[in-house]
Amino acid sequence: MVEKTSKDLSQFYLNLEKEFGAHDYHPLPVVLEKGEGVFMWDVNGKKYYDFLSAYSAVNQGHCHPELVSLIKNQAETLTLTSRAFHNNKLGEYMEFATKLFGFDKLLPMNTGAEGVETSIKLSRKWGYLKKKVDENQAKIVVCNNNFHGRTTTVISFSTDPGSKDFFGPHTPGFIHIPHGEISALENEFKKDKNIVAFLVEPIQGEGGDNHFRCEFMQNLRDIADENDIILIYDEVQTGVGVTGKMWAHQHFSTGKCTNNCKCSDSLTAKPDIIAFGKKTQVCGVAASTRFDDVEGNVFRESSRINSTWGGSLVDMVRLTIYLELIEKENLVEKAAETGLFLKQRLHDLQNEFPNLVSNARGKGLYCAFDLPSSEDRDKLANLLLDEGSILLGSGNYSIRFRPHLNVTEDDINFGMDCFRKALNKLS
Ligand SMILES: Cc1ncc(COP(=O)(O)O)c(C=O)c1O
Repeated sequence: MVEKTSKDLSQFYLNLEKEFGAHDYHPLPVVLEKGEGVFMWDVNGKKYYDFLSAYSAVNQGHCHPELVSLIKNQAETLTLTSRAFHNNKLGEYMEFATKLFGFDKLLPMNTGAEGVETSIKLSRKWGYLKKKVDENQAKIVVCNNNFHGRTTTVISFSTDPGSKDFFGPHTPGFIHIPHGEISALENEFKKDKNIVAFLVEPIQGEGGDNHFRCEFMQNLRDIADENDIILIYDEVQTGVGVTGKMWAHQHFSTGKCTNNCKCSDSLTAKPDIIAFGKKTQVCGVAASTRFDDVEGNVFRESSRINSTWGGSLVDMVRLTIYLELIEKENLVEKAAETGLFLKQRLHDLQNEFPNLVSNARGKGLYCAFDLPSSEDRDKLANLLLDEGSILLGSGNYSIRFRPHLNVTEDDINFGMDCFRKALNKLS
């Protein structure tokens, strides 16, 4: 048994988790206790550059002083009323966030997976009430290799055996198409009139930072309208600035195409629902008024799509100030600029280590590259820890970058130096 007074305190905490924790995850062997901006410190005082930002959930940097002071103030005033009553923060937040997000209605939940579950429930209900699909036959189309969370329904349509094995019976009502294939999607509508929605991540994150072709994303709105279905984007990982736009799908919607391809960039790809989470600090769904024009309203009181903690006052204050900081500090624009710099540095690494690094890619700060194998990737993540940089893989052999939105070019250079040293050791 390692004592708390030991020289390497990490081992003490690692042992505690091993003994008392349910072993459901493979964290890197680092025990963190403090964060400030883009850096974190472990229990032995070692400093790390944080390239993951809690899967991009703390985009404004660790312990932003303005956030801390407002959260503290709200915690001292009132924390949770439940949704059984109204409170003086929820409405203000809903107004602010819907306007900023460009949607009409908002429902706060606790986790990203709950946001996705809510999207599924809303679409099915819309399907029965509005589209009049056959009773209990509503179907939702999803892409192979998706990741939308870990609840029972959501893993039911995962294509990753590790996520779904032994958790059956699985929830029915989902149809898979190959990643990004328009013709496959259109074919499904010919086969089944009970399809109510298409659910997709604008960039597949956990699946390995897989980017869709513009052509696919840009046509989704038209396809959804032609077939009278709900278009759901899961922007839990890609949303709120990290790709250099508020939402990743906006890369495919308005203005000039940012993808260096020959697509037409005039089409609009706005979805009916966005599932959001992580960096909004509060999860949930933002939806269009499409759900309001149903007789009785899909969002009606008896919908029972809610939760005790969803909409807590502290969360509402946290999200509002977080979004205000994004606006005030121009973090989306900054992410677009520093994202170009990061991508260039990743291409430099690719040129320097052609046998190890390939397929450097990304939008804004949402970047990745591939290694030859999952073993190499895992070795690199551990070597980077020694060099003072924290990050994580995605998919089978990719390294993902999700830096804080306020990361500077100097920070990125620091991180790249860590990479250079770690890659030298790996080669
Ligand atoms: C695209 C996507 N959707 C949903 C989720 C689930 O979010 P949460 O872990 O908050 O349930 C994740 C988490 O990684 C995600 O990447």
